[in-house]
Amino acid sequence: MRVIIRDDYEEISRAAARDVARLLNSKPNAVLGLATGSTPLGIYRELVRMHRDEGLDFSKVTTFNLDEYVGLTPSNPQSYHYFMHEHLFQHINIARQNIHIPSGTTDNYDAFCVWYEQRIVDCGGIDLQVLGIGSDGHIAFNEPSSSLGSRTRLKTLAKQTIQDNARFFSRPEDVPIYAVTMGVGTILEARSILLVASGSGKAAAVAGAIEGPVTSMNTASSLQLHRDVTCYLDRGAASELKMVDYYDWIDEKESSAPPTVPRPHLLKSPTGVRQSN
Ligand code: PGA
Repeated sequence: MRVIIRDDYEEISRAAARDVARLLNSKPNAVLGLATGSTPLGIYRELVRMHRDEGLDFSKVTTFNLDEYVGLTPSNPQSYHYFMHEHLFQHINIARQNIHIPSGTTDNYDAFCVWYEQRIVDCGGIDLQVLGIGSDGHIAFNEPSSSLGSRTRLKTLAKQTIQDNARFFSRPEDVPIYAVTMGVGTILEARSILLVASGSGKAAAVAGAIEGPVTSMNTASSLQLHRDVTCYLDRGAASELKMVDYYDWIDEKESSAPPTVPRPHLLKSPTGVRQSN
């Protein structure tokens, strides 16, 4: 894992958006995995700005969102369909038919989830997945105790998540209890992953994810098994990590390395087998 710590939310958002833009510039038909919630808002703002001011092109991009609440129609302002159109899609030149968001209103969830998984495969797999992290360590809606091999499915939300999400709803009883979510196994198949976290409310979950054991009790810890994960954290989110000095040191050494030096995980070992990080 690469752990990149910056002073504030705007900085980590810009850095993560730059990674997305770099991918789109080298692969215009990239497949992006997208997240909702407060955390990715800064990334989306920056991508919209890059599209407007620098011509960042989304015309060939395909997207898959992580999750959607069960029972909310796309026109419901609290739905993730609505969120994505409001904060990203309506501001960029993405083709509507290339947007995929799990349905929260299908009458056959099992069939829908099978279709969603197959659609990801048919589109060539996800090149880059953007992730937030819940205060209980969840990625997408893979709550503690979710199988680390799980696929897209219907999930009952944890009480902590329902409580965290209540701020977006006018009445507590309106907060959905179920969601359709990509599984941990689905997420781990993305070729690269950006995890973004901001604020001390995420510090314990982030520490568990990066420095704790791999456990289904913090599904973000499964990212330790992936070979290309970058975590962008502000100082608050990084405040319970034990190895901050080391992460800062690596960051400093890598950013001052000449551009021809490849990232460590792409270096070949003496046997010719790629080393993983
Ligand atoms: P947040 O949610 O970005 O709104 O904090 C993150 C998550 O629950 O995955």
